[in-house]
Amino acid sequence: MCGIFGYIGSKKALPRLMEGLHRLEYRGYDSAGVALLHDGRIWTHRRVGRVIQLERTLNEPPDSRTGIAHTRWATHGGITEDNAHPHLDTEGRIAVVHNGIIENMTTLRAQLEKEGVVFRSETDSEVLPHLIRHFYRGNPLEAVNSALQEVRGSYGIAVLFADHPDCIVAARNGSPLVVGLGDGETVIASDPQPVVAHTRRVVYLEDREIALVTADDIELQRLDGTAVNTEVEVISGDYDVADQRGYPHFMLKEIHEQPEAIERCLRGRIQEEEGNARLGGLNMTPRDLLQVNSVTNVACGTAYHAGLVGAMAIEALARIPARAEIASEYRHRRPIVSPDTLFFAISQSGETADTLGAVQEIRLKGGHCMGVVNVVGSTIARECGAGTYVYAGPEVAVASTKAFTSQVTALLLFTLMLARTRNLSLGEGRRVARVLKEMPSKVAEYLQRPGPIDEATAVVRDAPYVLFLGRGFSYAAALEGALKLKEIAYVACEAYPAGEMKHGPIAMLEEGTPVLVVAPRDDQRDKAISNMKEVQARGARLIVVHTAGDDEVAALADVAIPVPPVPYWASPLVTVLPLQLLAYQTGLALGRDIDRPRNLAKSVTVE
Ligand code: AGP
Repeated sequence: MCGIFGYIGSKKALPRLMEGLHRLEYRGYDSAGVALLHDGRIWTHRRVGRVIQLERTLNEPPDSRTGIAHTRWATHGGITEDNAHPHLDTEGRIAVVHNGIIENMTTLRAQLEKEGVVFRSETDSEVLPHLIRHFYRGNPLEAVNSALQEVRGSYGIAVLFADHPDCIVAARNGSPLVVGLGDGETVIASDPQPVVAHTRRVVYLEDREIALVTADDIELQRLDGTAVNTEVEVISGDYDVADQRGYPHFMLKEIHEQPEAIERCLRGRIQEEEGNARLGGLNMTPRDLLQVNSVTNVACGTAYHAGLVGAMAIEALARIPARAEIASEYRHRRPIVSPDTLFFAISQSGETADTLGAVQEIRLKGGHCMGVVNVVGSTIARECGAGTYVYAGPEVAVASTKAFTSQVTALLLFTLMLARTRNLSLGEGRRVARVLKEMPSKVAEYLQRPGPIDEATAVVRDAPYVLFLGRGFSYAAALEGALKLKEIAYVACEAYPAGEMKHGPIAMLEEGTPVLVVAPRDDQRDKAISNMKEVQARGARLIVVHTAGDDEVAALADVAIPVPPVPYWASPLVTVLPLQLLAYQTGLALGRDIDRPRNLAKSVTVE
């Protein structure tokens, strides 16, 4: 997590650093800080809270052209000003901002303390300036390089030296870093989003690379001293600053953007006549597709839920084994990777450390992994090399909404391609293609008439516990709904496969417990009805998401929320919508910070 931004050039550094931090704030927002070089000294300012707090308390900052800045998501050490970055060496001549985790910090700290260093924070990061100072003999690059030889763990760092106002040293291992080469100015950032305000010419640092950055140059090498061919890329993605377009929160705006996001994901990819789809970035011929014997989706959080939907769709329509795996579990459990399995790494940000770790593990074991990613040029997209962008557009709210429906859409397009090489006929393929094409208008239709979300909000807002239930595809939607309610409203809840309820969670039910059942009209509907009756018999209050016109199911519910009819394999694209709105409204009713919920960050770049 954490966002790093550095500036060196001919213009005032501070406003550019602040602008950069604002655009990186989604990576963490516990505290923020800045270090500026001026008159051979380093000036710093740090504050607990958002970047805006830092900005508001800046008192007579020096007029500097070189600086580094940081927005933090706490890992080691509480949320305090002392733990905020930048961290300095004892004499205040070296400043470091760090994203990642120094795993051998206890050993390094003990060594440095023996040398007389007094630590001022509880962070792992503070070992870096002291260690760099320990090796510093006048050459910044050599000092950082020597220090990093001692470090185990992940880092993206930017380092300022009071003695060297003409450079910043940057290095990366496991935490992304990109250098933007502008006109007489160079910027360093955790991801491309804040870079595009300056330039689209970028150099992505690879793991164990170190760079000496000046206002008009970058000198790149590996930590082992070998030279690196500096490859300058021109990035073309849409990194515009998203504005709220009149919505009170980004989350609500992004919920309402889903029809256009799905539309963008589908654009140019459906072949209606052939009853097929085309995802060019996969670069797979029908013969390649035919050789795929199973599919595994690896992802975290919401993206994992999209992966579950994708896996179920592949099994149902393409009739080959498919599954979804939580990336953090998968990567560490000695997974079996077979050459005829196709892996998808699904990620909105493309920066999630566990998903990236899973990709690396899969590739190391000889597996074939492709990305299903939203942010163009992100680390996972580049690591995979091939895959598909979902084109949801910038997602700012921490709670992922439009990325989910876009990820599901991309996976359904892939399902269609795969299924057409197998048992899906031309006619069936055309029907699937038509349904996909209609999805933006189905989603828009629901969002225009969202049903009694207020009533559902009144039922869950003060409940000590809410149970979400669903079967099959609707279980994935239930999982996603419960995650949203936790994240945004901090209401204790869990999602269970409805059939599994009687094996335990039913014990949680008492008079008035809200139970939300996702029960569209599919072949599991009748069984879902039985589950509804079971929970009602225990006094639960039932909120049901059902297919419009299904009066039998609606009649059972205390609050019935209809969604437009769609085939079962596409149902999460509509059933998830009321659940997103319910989380939003509940968060609002409880006065939560909707777009920046507590303890979370948009992009989870640490393990
Ligand atoms: C979603 O609302 C969450 N904030 C979170 O679960 C997220 O989906 C997860 O961290 C994965 O992120 P990614 O899609 O950027 O990889």
